[in-house]
Amino acid sequence: MTEDLEALKRAAAEAAAQLVQDGMAVGLGTGSTVRHLLPAIAARQLRAVRYVATSPATAEQAMALGLAIEPFDTLDRLDLAIDGADQVAADGALVKGGGGAHVREKVVAGAADRFVVIVDATKAVEALVAPVPLELLAFGLRATLAQIAPAAVRDGAALSPDGNVIADYTGPVGDAAPLAARLDGVPGVVGHGLFAAAMVSDVFVGGSGGVQHRTVRSGR
Ligand code: A5P
Repeated sequence: MTEDLEALKRAAAEAAAQLVQDGMAVGLGTGSTVRHLLPAIAARQLRAVRYVATSPATAEQAMALGLAIEPFDTLDRLDLAIDGADQVAADGALVKGGGGAHVREKVVAGAADRFVVIVDATKAVEALVAPVPLELLAFGLRATLAQIAPAAVRDGAALSPDGNVIADYTGPVGDAAPLAARLDGVPGVVGHGLFAAAMVSDVFVGGSGGVQHRTVRSGR
């Protein structure tokens, strides 16, 4: 079963890898699905692509494959970003951050003209549910948690690459927009893993019948 799931992730990743073209600036996501994406991009042997990574783990794998990663302070926009997700709703809204990288992932997705999501079919859901990953400032942590209850620091999670605490909101989600606004309104919340459908351009879903390509919105 695990092998089957990996094959579905790989199929979605390989389909999305075909979108990378010479001359582009490309954001690379984080997670087990992106781990299939990087070799698929490297195999294309493109020569003039600039890459930024959403995590040290992605940067390390990409560089080992010969993809030159730049710090994300040299580019003011990206043509394309490709990333996994924990949940994808029918309208294209996402929950991300199972790996704790959601804040950098959202910065990269928000800078991209086209944000492409790659998932296996188990990630497709009717409606988004908790847990919703959070990145919180360590300063005032207890007070922040009290304002966004129910929420808890994630057991065993390392600090984010930006030195913040990884936690999860565990209450009802319902319509994600008001929850996102509530979380965005709390000063100690650096970011959360709710990604509105408006951020998402395409979703590639690897399933037993092949890869399904859904267009959520056309490029900015
Ligand atoms: C990383 O923090 C996450 O947002 C991942 O993109 C998401 O959890 C999907 O990861 P997998 O591809 O490992 O399921």
